[in-house]
Amino acid sequence: MIYRLIFWLVLQRMDAERAHALASRALAFIHGPLRLGGFLGVALRPRDPGLHIKALGHTFRSPLGAAAGVDKYASWFESLGALGFGFVEVGTITGRPQEANPRPRVARLLRERGLVNRLGFPNPGAEEASRRLARRTGALVVGANVGRSRETALGGASDDYRRTVRGLAANSDYLVLNVSSPNTPGLAALQEVGLLRQLVGAVRAELQALDLVVPTLLKIGPDLSDTEIDDIADLALELKLDGIVATNTTLSRDGVTLGTGSGFLLSGGISGRPLKRRALEVLERLYARAGNDLVLVSVGGIETAEDAWERVLAGATLLQAYTAFVYGGPLWPRSINAGLSRKLQASGAPSLQSLVGASARARSLPDAIGEDEYLREPSEGSPLAAVRARLA
Ligand SMILES: Cc1cc2nc3c(=O)[nH]c(=O)nc-3n(C[C@H](O)[C@H](O)[C@H](O)COP(=O)(O)O)c2cc1C
Repeated sequence: MIYRLIFWLVLQRMDAERAHALASRALAFIHGPLRLGGFLGVALRPRDPGLHIKALGHTFRSPLGAAAGVDKYASWFESLGALGFGFVEVGTITGRPQEANPRPRVARLLRERGLVNRLGFPNPGAEEASRRLARRTGALVVGANVGRSRETALGGASDDYRRTVRGLAANSDYLVLNVSSPNTPGLAALQEVGLLRQLVGAVRAELQALDLVVPTLLKIGPDLSDTEIDDIADLALELKLDGIVATNTTLSRDGVTLGTGSGFLLSGGISGRPLKRRALEVLERLYARAGNDLVLVSVGGIETAEDAWERVLAGATLLQAYTAFVYGGPLWPRSINAGLSRKLQASGAPSLQSLVGASARARSLPDAIGEDEYLREPSEGSPLAAVRARLA
């Protein structure tokens, strides 16, 4: 409520990027010099063990993570964890430090509850980001999103990612190969399966040379065709990748009214509510193809606990958000966690993890068992228990 008031009275009138920088610095200050991070954590961190997710070799306190871009500089992930995020994906990080694209580069789409950005990948570079990650103290899961440097040509992408992974891997809980940001020219072309195969091979070779096993995922965009999505899912399964993060921002302008005088908006990626439907479609498509053989991380337009619940049931093991956090403020992650706990309790299921993909699986039930009934934990030995065991 108070944040909403501050948002409408103050932040909304500020440049979106400055508001983000101000908020992150204030939180880092509260967490660091003021030493109130512990207090924040106690007040806001999820404590419901039913929300714990075991995936990628880690235990996540909540399935809800801060999406790439929220902490581009790996400078306030601890504060984000204290607010209730179960994990943070820092970056996008490139081999060497990079500046952002020229301003203007971020704007709010207030009516649509969206953002449009063409920031590019401003970041401190792999070595500095790795040093910052090494200093972390708590049990928060922190992954690193890796991207192509702006000056690297498409042909040199594999070597470029490889160098970045060399700098980052030892201090990252997981790696995401970002091949989908629309703001680095030519990056999305890497989603072509031939190029992807090369890229994954190069990163794997680097991890092997470092003698490290770090879960590796791909981050894909929402503007791919359905066939391209299927092909990427098949490739991920074939190469035994750990998972897919879907989706990045969209270049589609469907349902979005762009104001006049904002020429730059034409080239930026849109996030938030306008992305919601497509992000869910992509998730459903990936789950239909890969089931539980890939860890699917759903991101794009998650605003409410209902959205989060729907994504888990549609097949997401983990969730991420950026835009709704900007609109919802520092208490937003806690409200999503609390809403998920309430829904879990009402469903009677023992854990959120047991429900991953449940609505997708319920749709393929042989007999006419309603979805609500399916989602309730069946009594031992009942016919429903047998069907669930078969489909699990
Ligand atoms: C301002 C801004 C910066 C972003 N920067 C990155 C980035 O550096 N790397 C990346 O993979 N995704 C980035 N994203 C995309 C988000 O991680 C996420 O995929 C997308 O915003 C959809 O989620 P949302 O609707 O919850 O915002 C950025 C998004 C925004 C709004």
